[in-house]
Amino acid sequence: MNYTVVLPAAGSGKRMKADRNKLLLELSGKPIFIYTLEVFDRDPNCEGMWLAVKDGERQLIEEYVERYEIKKVKGYAIGGAERQDSVRAGLEMAGPCEVVLVHDAARPFISPSVITELVEQANQSGAAIAGVPVKDTIKKVQGGLITETVDRSSLWMIQTPQAFRYELLLQAAQLAQAEAFLGTDEAMLVERTGHPVQVVESTYENVKMTTPDDLIYGQAILASRLQ
Ligand code: C5P
Repeated sequence: MNYTVVLPAAGSGKRMKADRNKLLLELSGKPIFIYTLEVFDRDPNCEGMWLAVKDGERQLIEEYVERYEIKKVKGYAIGGAERQDSVRAGLEMAGPCEVVLVHDAARPFISPSVITELVEQANQSGAAIAGVPVKDTIKKVQGGLITETVDRSSLWMIQTPQAFRYELLLQAAQLAQAEAFLGTDEAMLVERTGHPVQVVESTYENVKMTTPDDLIYGQAILASRLQ
């Protein structure tokens, strides 16, 4: 089953404590987002990629895409202040298509088999997202004191990719905008329309490069793949 992918790439480097967009930081000499794009470039089912970028970074990102010979980038949307705005801008440019995937450009270690499974599930049921069961004990804490230890048996950490029938996600994203609802992922927007969302088990390696320690983990993943 073919799909189109929207990649939000218009963030900053704040939590990474970097003075520029963290996606431009390098792992083993290559920018983080190029690893992400390479996964989709190699997938025969990927029909095209749409990147949401900051206006001022578009030229630089295009240069990298050319230099690393990424073939499937179809175009660039201008991202917004929130990730949700960037995704919506990408979606509006990317469609219409049958299945659309949204994937953080900051997650370079996504597994191709998880992508395939998500696309199949989204084609069947409309909405499927990647996640992994939580590993740690989870507690609610207020003012430094525990208020509750949460039963973790049904808790999952949600990642991207998140895959949807295109029209379902576009309508959910436009509704959220009209109602000024801000979610932390695409599934939240679809959940509030009442449509069920499937969760596909992903890998712990599919970490989002967010804080400086993630770069250490990222280097270790790359090294282990070379062995
Ligand atoms: O900041 P965070 O790591 O949660 O961002 C996740 C992804 O969303 C990153 O790939 C980032 O570039 C992108 N993003 C965006 N537009 C924003 C904020 C984040 O495209 N306004």
